[in-house]
Parts: sequence; structure tokens; C-alpha cells
Amino acid sequence: MCFSCENMMRGFRPSWVVWPLLLVCLLPAFADNEARIETRIDALLSGMTLEEKIGQMHQINAIYRPESADSLKEAVRKGHIGSILNEDRPDHVNELQRIAVEESRLGIPVIFGMDVIHGYRTIFPIPLGQAATWNPEMVQKAARVAATEAASTGLNWTFAPMVDLCRDPRWGRIAEGYGEDPFLGSCLAAAAVHGFQTHDLSANGAIAACAKHFAGYGAVEGGRDYNTVILPENVLRDVWLPAFQSSVKAGAATLMCSFNEINGVPSSGNAFLLKEVLRDEWKFDGFVVSDWASIAEMVEHGFCADRRDAAKKAVQAGVDMEMVSGTYQDHLAALVASGDIDVSLLDEAVRRILRIKFRLGLFDHPCRDRSAFPEQMSPEFLETARQCARQSVVMLKNLNGTLPLSANTGTLAVIGPLADDRYEALGTWHCRGREEDTVSPLTAIRNAVGPDTKIIYEQTLSHPRDRNIKRFIKAIQACDRADAVLVFVGEESALSGESRCRAFLTLTGAQSELIERVSQTGKPVILVVYAGRPLAIGREIDHADAVLYAWHPGTMAGPALADLIFGTESPSGKLPVTFPQTAGQIPVYYNHKNTGRPPSGDVTLDMLQPGPRRQRLPFESYYLDIGHKPLFPFGFGLSYTTFEYANLNIESNTVKNGGLLKASVDVRNTGHMEADEIVQCYIRDLAGSLTRPVRELKAFKRIRLKPGESRNVAFNLDTAEMGFYSLNGRYVVEPGDFQLWIGPSSAEGMMETFRIIR
Ligand code: NOJ
Repeated sequence: MCFSCENMMRGFRPSWVVWPLLLVCLLPAFADNEARIETRIDALLSGMTLEEKIGQMHQINAIYRPESADSLKEAVRKGHIGSILNEDRPDHVNELQRIAVEESRLGIPVIFGMDVIHGYRTIFPIPLGQAATWNPEMVQKAARVAATEAASTGLNWTFAPMVDLCRDPRWGRIAEGYGEDPFLGSCLAAAAVHGFQTHDLSANGAIAACAKHFAGYGAVEGGRDYNTVILPENVLRDVWLPAFQSSVKAGAATLMCSFNEINGVPSSGNAFLLKEVLRDEWKFDGFVVSDWASIAEMVEHGFCADRRDAAKKAVQAGVDMEMVSGTYQDHLAALVASGDIDVSLLDEAVRRILRIKFRLGLFDHPCRDRSAFPEQMSPEFLETARQCARQSVVMLKNLNGTLPLSANTGTLAVIGPLADDRYEALGTWHCRGREEDTVSPLTAIRNAVGPDTKIIYEQTLSHPRDRNIKRFIKAIQACDRADAVLVFVGEESALSGESRCRAFLTLTGAQSELIERVSQTGKPVILVVYAGRPLAIGREIDHADAVLYAWHPGTMAGPALADLIFGTESPSGKLPVTFPQTAGQIPVYYNHKNTGRPPSGDVTLDMLQPGPRRQRLPFESYYLDIGHKPLFPFGFGLSYTTFEYANLNIESNTVKNGGLLKASVDVRNTGHMEADEIVQCYIRDLAGSLTRPVRELKAFKRIRLKPGESRNVAFNLDTAEMGFYSLNGRYVVEPGDFQLWIGPSSAEGMMETFRIIR
């Protein structure tokens, strides 16, 4: 079996029919293996010195390490280092691993970790873009490619997926997650874990996943990174924890705790999260790593008196491994000696770390043979990246069928700072992705057009923050000569990701002016936007005839975009997050509460005569200047074809609590092109002991239909998953009346009602 086939088999997920059979066959072997692992851990633990135990709990960063290579080797030899971060030079990894296994007293291998977030060398769309595919299989495939490339260098562990839900696009890290919805986020989190790990962590090409950042990090106040988080426990459990629980259920080997505090307790010292929820309730048996220096930062938080206190609180809370800051290495021995902490806490932590090292097969196959892996950026990987990028693009506007363009459109003007840029397509955390590997839109467009099509390229602004408008004249001249104009604008990679928060969500530099000037030529204007977050670009969209929102699409940005621009494939992405009209409207998300004064229709300032009288304004929950609606709702995205929804049917409008609600709808492709549609199913619990959101996504399906084709799309919804957490932390499903919608976005759909009875 060639590697790629073998690989596909590893990514294979058995159907529900096959599962029970597989379980019956594999469970005894699995249980045996697990028992053997625990016995081997017992043996190791009984022979370990305190220093060696602390070593297992210590992770160092290879890149900025001041010590020489020799002292690093010596530390590994002495068993003082359990994990190394950011070392992926295959010969170095293998040499360090050889020393750990052959020359350290107990032969315990090191676990090598890195941020392989949306690809290793073949870069896929940023996670937020991947979320826009609404395609768990695609997310799984992307993670599989990333893991295969990463594993070939000797890496065993990625700090991904980031499953932090986010309702605030000011937060730069929204780029790294799967958007605003707990259900979509949970499905994609599980898919990524399966993709990185396969069903067997010890398989060649499998790496350990790390669901991060536990927890609530995406809820930082004001969307400012590292900031305070205040979340009532029921909201935390309803909204922010499900994607973590789903990662744990999918078998995530590790979790990373977050930088933030929640309700006054930093995550690195949060026993409620790490013990009560993670270990006691969810039965997680992998290990928890801190975030970068997040243990030491508990002193800055004002939660710990000093680094010693921080080490103590982190161990007591259940942080097994410390990333970088070294408080464990500096203080654990003294803390044990003084009796401040019991050595059994260290034993538990080391057990969990060793368990994952065993499951990864590191004791048996510590070193990597690169020849056992396919080439990086193989044609197969690049094709997957292209498909993923294609599915991630969301078409926000397409006036009068402006898109797709014919490949024989006489003259095309290609304008803008990102049209021929290869770096910015890669996005934040692009690991070993290289600018020179990336295909720019301009190159792909040139390759895609017919021989008679003329391309006039004008970069106009040298980068997205360029304010110099002196080259506008040439751009306008190009537009005047063109039949259609493609304008590539957006955010640079460096404006999203960790610590890259923004108070304004507008386009930077003179990009907006450029779009306005181009639109004045009267030519059809197609905007292509790169961004790591939703941008508030309503004005720019008004100036355009068509808009493709491409996030940061990765290595295959150009070919994927060209496929869509020239209609080889229809756009099919849907927004995984609500787009605000302006930053002042944040937080704005689809699954909000109704309030006692829901808006019935906005009376905004521009509708009023000067000197408005108070009584002409409704006393409702909205903004006087922009109303209540977002720029685009969650789940929205256009296609080159049209889909019609009909015959919504609920098998029985009364369902017993715990039973299945069977709902279906007919979806028909009423346009002229074969295309994918993402069919979305939402519910609303009309009255609860706690108020419930106006809509909650409960299921979705990506389907493909030929022109004229119709399909009955059915959902079996488990009423057990229609509940929520009460104020005393208990999960409840309350009998009563519900609404159900099936449709193309969170703001549309056919509606039916049903009742859950006892
Ligand atoms: C800090 C980031 O918060 C985390 O996501 C990342 O995995 C670590 N640094 C390691 O680079």
C-alpha cells in the first residue's frame, strides 16, 4: 500500500454501522495495550528521581534558548527536559531523541511540539476560513496533511486546534478559531483532532492534538488579547466549553490552558476548570500544558505572590507541563521538600505525560525516518489545499450575476496591494509555509484566462497600509480600458493572530479610497478581500458589484480564487461568524437573547427630520445610528446558482424528552450551475427557566446538487441536546414549545413548531 493510500485509511472514519463491529474487535486489544502502558508507567515512576519527574513537566523553547546546543543535549541526557517546543530540524530532533532514549538514565523520549495551526508547509486557509467551509471532512483532511508534513520532521505534537469560540472580531485570535457558534465549533474541533491524531496516535504520521486555550479566552473584554474574562458558569458551559468537550470526546491527547482569568481565577491556576470539569466530569486522561509563561504570569495577574506560589498553584490546579517560564524547574523540588505540595501531585502529572508519550509510540519508535513520508507539498496535498481554500471563500455580493467572469473577458484590470502578493495569503501562524511556494491571484488569473484576454495589472498601493494615492491615476486608466475590474484588498497577515487586536475594523491605508475611485469608472468591480477577521466594510461593498471574502487562503490562494472567479466552481462558503456593520455594534452574534424589547424595525437617525422628538423613536433594543442588524448574518453566503427550500416536515410535532426529532426539507437547485449548498437547522426554545437564544444551530449538511436536482435533506435531532445549563450547573432539557428552522442562513429558513414533553 503506498503511503498516501495508507494515509487515507488512517483518516478513514468508519460509519455508524461499522463502529460497533470495530469496537467489539478492537476494544480488548486497546484495553490490553492501555493496561500495559499503565504498568510501564508504574515501573518508570517507581524508579524516577524527583529531578527526573520535574524534568518531564518542563518544556523548553528551542529557538530562543540561550544555552548552547551542548548544554541542551546535556539537559536531555540528565532527564531534565520532557518536551521541546519549536525544534523541527529533522537531524536535530532525531539526535536529541536518540540522546533521550539511549543516554538518559530511564530512556524517556522527549515530546516535540510546534504550532502547526493551518498547515505545516502546505498552508491551508486560516482556521476561521476553514470554518467557513462548514465541512468537517475538509477540516479533517487539512489537519491530516498538516500532521503528515509535520510528523515527517520528527514533530509529535501540535498546539492545535484552537477551539476558542469568539463573538468579537476585534480580537486578533478570532482568525485561529472556528467562529462564533458552539455547535459548528464542536464539529470542526472534533474533525481537526481526528485529522491530526487519526484513530491511532502511534500511527506513522499521527501527531498529538492540543485543544486550546482552556477556557473562555475568546471572551476577553473588549476583544483585547490577554484581557479579563467574566463569564457566568452556565454561559461558560453552554457556549464556550462545548468545543473543548467535543475535542476531549474525539480523543484529544492534550489541552492547553489559557492566558486569561475567568471570574478572577487565571486558567493556569483554575482547579474548577482543570480538575472538576476536565478530569472529573469529562474523564480526560491526557495532559495539560500551560500556555507560554502563563504560570509565571499569574504573578502579574495578582493571583500569586511570586513564582514559587505560581508553581504551587498551577500544580495544585492540574497543569501538568509548563511551557517555557520554568517555575516548575525552579521551585517544585523545594515545594515538595517543604511539604507545601505532595509528591503524589507530581506523580499524577508525570503519569499523564508519560501516558501520551506511550500512546504516541515514542518509546518504541522515538526517531523518524523521513523517507517513510511523502514529499511535503505533494500534488495531492496541494490539491486538498486548493479545494479547502475554494470552499472557504464566502461570496457576499453578486449583483446581476457579475461573477463568474468568462475566461475570455476582453480586458481585465487587476488592481490592488494583494493581487500579486504571496506572503499575505498565508495568514497568521503559517508555520513553515513559504511565500515562494504560494501562487498569487495574479499568476493564477493569468494562467486561467484565454489567449485573447488581456490583463492589465496595477498594484497601486504597495501594501494594504499604504496611504500614498499617487498611483491611483494609472489604476483608473487601467479600469477605463477594462471590461471588468478585480480589486484585491484586505488585511495583512500580521494584523490578526495573537496580540493583533484592532479597535477599528475598517480597511487600512488608502484601500477604501481606491475602491471608491475604481467604482466611479462605472466598470463592473469585483472585490476580493483577504482578512483574518470579519471586517466592517459595508461602504466598500456598496461600491462593488461582487465581493469574495477569502480570509487568508493559504498556499493555493491564487488557483482557488481563479477557480471561483472564472466559475470552474461556485462559491459555497458560509460565514462562521456574524459581520458587524461597525466595531461599535460588537458584540453582535446570531444566537443572542431576545430581550424584553426586541427591535421591530429600526428608526434610525437618517430617517428623522432635524430635531427629532423623542416620542417618534421606538423604545426598543437597537442603535439609533445603525439599527440592530449586522452587516451579514452568521451562516450567510451566496452561490452562482440558486436554491429553493420547500416542504419542511417534522415527523411528529410532539417528542418525548430524550427522543429524536425528525425534520426534513426539500432543497432544489433552481439555477444553472452544479453547486454545493450548506443546509442549516436551527431551533429556539420559546420559554425556559432561563431565557434562551433566539436561534441555536443544531445540525447542518453540505450537499451538492446539479441544476434542477432536488434532494430531501433530513435531520435527526436529539432532544437531549436541546437543553442548557441551569444556574446550579446542572444540564436540563425543559419540556415546552420550540421553533425549528431549516434554511440557508441564520436569518432565513422555513419554520415549524414542535413540543418536547416529559
Ligand atoms: C502562545 C499562544 O497563546 C499559544 O497558542 C501557542 O501555542 C504558544 N504560544 C506556543 O507558541
